[in-house]
Amino acid sequence: MADTLKVSAPGKLIISGEHAVVYGYPALVAAVNRRLSISLARGKKKIKSNIPIGCGMGSSAAYAVATSAARTFLKNKKLDLGEINKMAYKIEKKRHGNPSGVDNTVSTYGGLLWYRKESEGLKTFSSIKIKRSLPKIYIIGTGKPVESTKEMVTRVGKLYRKDHQNTEIIFKEIEKITRNFLQYLLGERVASFQELIKENEALLEKLGVVSSFTVRLIREIEKIGGAAKISGAGGSKNKSGILLVYHKNANKLKNFVKREKLELIKIQLGEEGVKIEK
Ligand code: MEV
Repeated sequence: MADTLKVSAPGKLIISGEHAVVYGYPALVAAVNRRLSISLARGKKKIKSNIPIGCGMGSSAAYAVATSAARTFLKNKKLDLGEINKMAYKIEKKRHGNPSGVDNTVSTYGGLLWYRKESEGLKTFSSIKIKRSLPKIYIIGTGKPVESTKEMVTRVGKLYRKDHQNTEIIFKEIEKITRNFLQYLLGERVASFQELIKENEALLEKLGVVSSFTVRLIREIEKIGGAAKISGAGGSKNKSGILLVYHKNANKLKNFVKREKLELIKIQLGEEGVKIEK
């Protein structure tokens, strides 16, 4: 219908670099096949989404991006990605105080991105063309954290101020892993995808963003020969949002989630960014 506008924006999965990215370290992030859409018709707004809310998959950024896209489209009759991304970042800033901008950027542009916030006025990113077949990645939901992204970012901020030297060391280690993931994806390095996830998770635990409930689940996944990490802001009190999970034998994961009464979801990386739905 000509008088209906429908825009949609994807959720995301951070492969590596969450939290460190707030302090200028790089992050590797992918848009995923979960989307939020906004329809505007005769002054009414309808929102639909299959991105879990507040679980690390970028639901709030997808909302900010879709809203910004609808506004700019109504004004300019085209989608200006740069403008949408800037507007969405402002919305994210209001909500969450000190965002890196990675979530709104990947939801705007889609694909797989290498992202870095050099300073407030300069955020750089490159789209990555994967040179090898990606291992099958799953997600498992541990449940919605009681803390918001803003609270988790603040928590890491306190640690950063209190124990500056050690926190910088953790961020630098995270950066090394993020670079190893990049080289792996570009086919420049034969790293073990599983080992990188495991090392990344250990560092996130040092930052205090993974709850003991979630740590137990992750140790169980490691015991059956797999690896898992939180993805996004995490959660330290009870649940920690979604886990990015890898196991070369998916049946082992299927048995694990059955035992734990959890759900295993296969996720596709590299989804298209914000778009007008016909
Ligand atoms: C949240 O998806 C990722 C964090 O690094 C926060 C941010 O980058 O704004 C925890």
